Amino acid sequence: METITALSFKQQIKQGIPSKLPSAKIYETDINHAPKRKEILSDEEKKLALQNALRYFKPEQHEILAKEFLAELNDYGRIYMYRFRPDYEMKARPIKEYPGKCKQAKAIMLMIQNNLDYAVAQHPHELITYGGNGGVFSNWAQYLLTMKYLSEMTDKQTLVMYSGHPMGLFPSHKDAPRVVVTNGMMIPNYSKPDDYEKFNALGVTQYGQMTAGSYMYIGPQGIVHGTTITVLNGFRKIGKEPQGNLFVTSGLGGMSGAQPKAGNIAGCVTVCAEVNPKITQVRLDQGWIDEKITDLDKLVARVKQAKENKETVSIAYLGNIVDVWEKFDKENVHIDLGSDQTSLHNPWAGGYYPADISFEDANEMIAKEPELFKEKVQETLRRHAKAINQHTVKGTYFFDYGNAFLLEASRAGADVMSDNPTIGREFKYPSYVQDIMGPMCFDYGFGPFRWVCASGKPEDLVKTDAIACKVLEKLKKESPQEIKQQMDDNIQWIKGAQENKLVVGSQARILYADAEGRMKIAKAFNKAIKKGKIGTVVLGRDHHDVSGTDSPYRETSNIYDGSRFTADMAIHNVIGDSFRGATWVSIHNGGGVGWGEVINGGFGMVLDGSKDAGRRLESMLFWDVNNGIARRNWARNEGAIFAIERAMKSEPSLKVTVPNLVDEKLLANL
Ligand SMILES: NC(=O)c1ccc[n+]([C@@H]2O[C@H](COP(=O)([O-])OP(=O)(O)OC[C@H]3O[C@@H](n4cnc5c(N)ncnc54)[C@H](O)[C@@H]3O)[C@@H](O)[C@H]2O)c1
Repeated sequence: METITALSFKQQIKQGIPSKLPSAKIYETDINHAPKRKEILSDEEKKLALQNALRYFKPEQHEILAKEFLAELNDYGRIYMYRFRPDYEMKARPIKEYPGKCKQAKAIMLMIQNNLDYAVAQHPHELITYGGNGGVFSNWAQYLLTMKYLSEMTDKQTLVMYSGHPMGLFPSHKDAPRVVVTNGMMIPNYSKPDDYEKFNALGVTQYGQMTAGSYMYIGPQGIVHGTTITVLNGFRKIGKEPQGNLFVTSGLGGMSGAQPKAGNIAGCVTVCAEVNPKITQVRLDQGWIDEKITDLDKLVARVKQAKENKETVSIAYLGNIVDVWEKFDKENVHIDLGSDQTSLHNPWAGGYYPADISFEDANEMIAKEPELFKEKVQETLRRHAKAINQHTVKGTYFFDYGNAFLLEASRAGADVMSDNPTIGREFKYPSYVQDIMGPMCFDYGFGPFRWVCASGKPEDLVKTDAIACKVLEKLKKESPQEIKQQMDDNIQWIKGAQENKLVVGSQARILYADAEGRMKIAKAFNKAIKKGKIGTVVLGRDHHDVSGTDSPYRETSNIYDGSRFTADMAIHNVIGDSFRGATWVSIHNGGGVGWGEVINGGFGMVLDGSKDAGRRLESMLFWDVNNGIARRNWARNEGAIFAIERAMKSEPSLKVTVPNLVDEKLLANL
């Protein structure tokens, strides 16, 4: 046996899968690990999974590895190839530290490493970035091979990624994407949750979530901004100030962990329940929550005091969210705003923990008694919904946070269905996209634009913040009334961004901007790079955006013409981005609301100050936003009709079909 630590970082990257076996790794217990996955493969299928895993390695290593991988499969339900986890620190390095021939490829390596950084990733050893099962890769061989290919790539090649597996480098051209990623693409009939379990265990597909498998996750900051907007607008919607009012929710994980911080930025009292003690402690240590309480009576007393004193405070309750809703009902603690961000897109494998069972026992039950676990989850969901209903009759405004809460609760037979269901209004409660994000942001083209300073220098981030702020302030002066609130919220956000210390991992920033804002900010960055004021910048966005995602219960839940069950928009988006200049593109099945429930895509774009980058950014960003506005306009969404007409005025070569609206009285009389 030989260890690989004698090699430099660059050499280790270039080596790919080491030719000599590295020493076996100890299973570190102080790391947050993925729960054991469901036992789904037959003995014959396990052999197939082994064959699949072993094809990454030379035959002389198969004897040792076959036994080891089988043990991983039996112990954890998946083959992660822990032995091949590299010894170097996993973090985004300054771009100049990556080996290779192509700057774009180096930027992608940086983004991949950021998604696996221990401070960023949820289960770093299992290559899971967030959402319980959002994988960058399925195993360490895929990681090593991908990094090697990227280090060899020229700017006339494209790396093809099949659900975590690097199929290889193919000749292309300099304007083509450097990487094309697909994750979880299935023949539609094979897209049920158990299909995912089986084909993922076989090692032939993976769940890329949104920004995990597309190398665009920027830590919880990515979601803090959207969550802040949601909480702020949630309070605006019910006509209350956040001060002295209560927001109750759950989950302190990858994305849900942003809720208490957003509550603090908005200025309310936040209670967020979390069953996992390790995760709760991490958020406390990071300063993302202010206090932790483990006793329900103490929680009630503390919340009453905080409301009375109009404190801005976020409290983690270490325990099950159902107990909070029930206790607050019993003790008459009024909840103003309520939601939930457990991972119900993944209900049977640790996304949602049942009440009255310890966290450890529940994890054991997932692996050993999956049917019983499912029953307990559904029983808890019915209790959960009942307690929420008791609050909403007393005036609580509850919204689904895009985590499939209402969908799974309805499947469990909970009382969440609307009395008068129509397409798009099936449930008692709206999703946050139906009431807030859709009509206020997406329909106008505002979405989670983001960038990463690839130099790794905090001062570059400060400079880009200032550039973006200047652009937005200028744009605001000419903005129509319809988008002024958005502009104001984002200018305020970018001004406070440094102070709120949002960076975890790479030097990244997010803000919501429309097509014009995104293009103007990107252009200004490219100019600053050319002048040597800042280093290379990587642009991107969350898939959770105007055009990137077709998801009937989330991003496209405010589409009421019946087309929300189609996925043409997301597919067009990724194809359109790829021939308009994206550096990498990705398209995923699953993400947020679950396997088979959503198709979502995104891009990354490297700005290096060149003319080529300037040309690409204009062409691609315009399409990337206006595709979705055009579709939302065709669905008769008022804001989108306004926005697409405005876009057509600004760009005469854009010609979009606009709907003719029918007088509802005419239909009523038929
Ligand atoms: N933040 C957003 O804006 C946003 C937007 C859309 C969707 N979502 C969805 O929110 C969900 C959460 O995402 P995440 O990345 O935080 O996932 P995650 O798995 O990292 O975190 C969920 C957390 O909920 C905890 N939990 C599960 N059941 C619980 C229970 N009964 N009581 C208390 N805690 C419980 C888990 O221990 C876990 O830490 C996902 O389904 C995601 O798609 C979030």
